[in-house]
Amino acid sequence: MNSSLTSPFNLGSRTFKNRMIAAPPPSMTCDFNGLVTAETIEYYQRLAETGVAAVIVEGAAVSASARAWTKHLDVSHADVLSGLSQIAEKIRRGGALPILQLYHAGCNSLTFEGKRLYGVSNPLIKKTTADIRPLSLEMIDQILRDYIEAAVVAWNAGFSGLEVQGADGSLIQQFLSPLTNTRDDEYGLKNAGGAFFARQVIRGLKNVTPDLTLSMRLSLKDLLPGGNGIKNAVAAAKLFKQEGIDVFHVTEGLLVGNPIMIHPAVGKEAPETPFAEDAQIFKHEIDHPVILSGKIDRPAAADQKISRDFCDFVSLGRTLNRNPRLPSFAGKPEEYAGLPCLRCKVCIAAAKGCPDKHIPFARII
Ligand SMILES: Cc1cc2nc3c(=O)[nH]c(=O)nc-3n(C[C@H](O)[C@H](O)[C@H](O)COP(=O)(O)O)c2cc1C
Ligand code: SF4
Repeated sequence: MNSSLTSPFNLGSRTFKNRMIAAPPPSMTCDFNGLVTAETIEYYQRLAETGVAAVIVEGAAVSASARAWTKHLDVSHADVLSGLSQIAEKIRRGGALPILQLYHAGCNSLTFEGKRLYGVSNPLIKKTTADIRPLSLEMIDQILRDYIEAAVVAWNAGFSGLEVQGADGSLIQQFLSPLTNTRDDEYGLKNAGGAFFARQVIRGLKNVTPDLTLSMRLSLKDLLPGGNGIKNAVAAAKLFKQEGIDVFHVTEGLLVGNPIMIHPAVGKEAPETPFAEDAQIFKHEIDHPVILSGKIDRPAAADQKISRDFCDFVSLGRTLNRNPRLPSFAGKPEEYAGLPCLRCKVCIAAAKGCPDKHIPFARII
């Protein structure tokens, strides 16, 4: 039988009931200390109940200084465990696997109380005006420990998997890109194209939480002059696969300055599934499971990408915000009549639902 959107898939020791995954745009529902609120829990319950196989919970900052936006989930907070456990339980009860994305914003971090911004090195991107200092080796060691502690918290909270955020302008992407990494130590591009940091993160996570499914969000292209192309992504992914990544969640673009900005590659003017062809090349090269993200608006389009082996899963971000009932049409795409997402950038805080319909997310399900 051909693979389809409704067919199950085994990843590591877990079975995903279908090929649809809720992507992790930030819900912006945490409190100002980065702790989970009742609104956060309700939001993730609703996502799980849409019928997706797994819900990736928004990039959790591995330390307070790794946060990129206000109300950003802080997995290092001493009181975070109870809220995180409730999220994982609600997702599971909703019928989906809970996966926590681990995030560090690097030079895109918020500045607190006049503290300086640290990054891999000063970015070679003109619009970056902030004075960014290179992380010292001691600081990098501390960040690696933060990742490990965050993984242990996720495991204790009952998550089934972790996703290492290596795209969307995160610290890991900043290590990988020539536009943000000009270091000449072992973390520089001369050492496996800047992959040394991410390899240590993955190794650390595999060490402490070997039974969790491990995804990695990866940008196939920086989409900026002088930035990385797909060959760099393939070379890095081969190393990350060796370290134990189970699946790559692919996107494109490098965001520096404002990680909440939405890349034009998935904006209003972009075609449907803009990254599908690159994802197919990548999947063929690395011979490993792939989650395709970005502008997947119709079950028919998603089904075609799976059955033609462009990818093994699709992830749905604003699409699911606009059309929470989309997954229920996976086996009958011809009956689907959902309105396409306008990519109007209004739903920056995903939990608010799609105001374009004037109906809150909760009431459409
Ligand atoms: C405001 C905003 C912030 C986002 N931040 C993240 C993030 O922190 N981590 C991540 O993996 N994806 C992030 N995304 C990307 C989404 O997960 C998703 O891949 C993207 O929106 C494309 O899917 P869509 O076309 O269905 O929205 C963000 C998206 C938006 C709109
Ligand atoms: S607010 Fe705009 S971008 Fe968000 S889901 Fe609705 S149509 Fe899409």
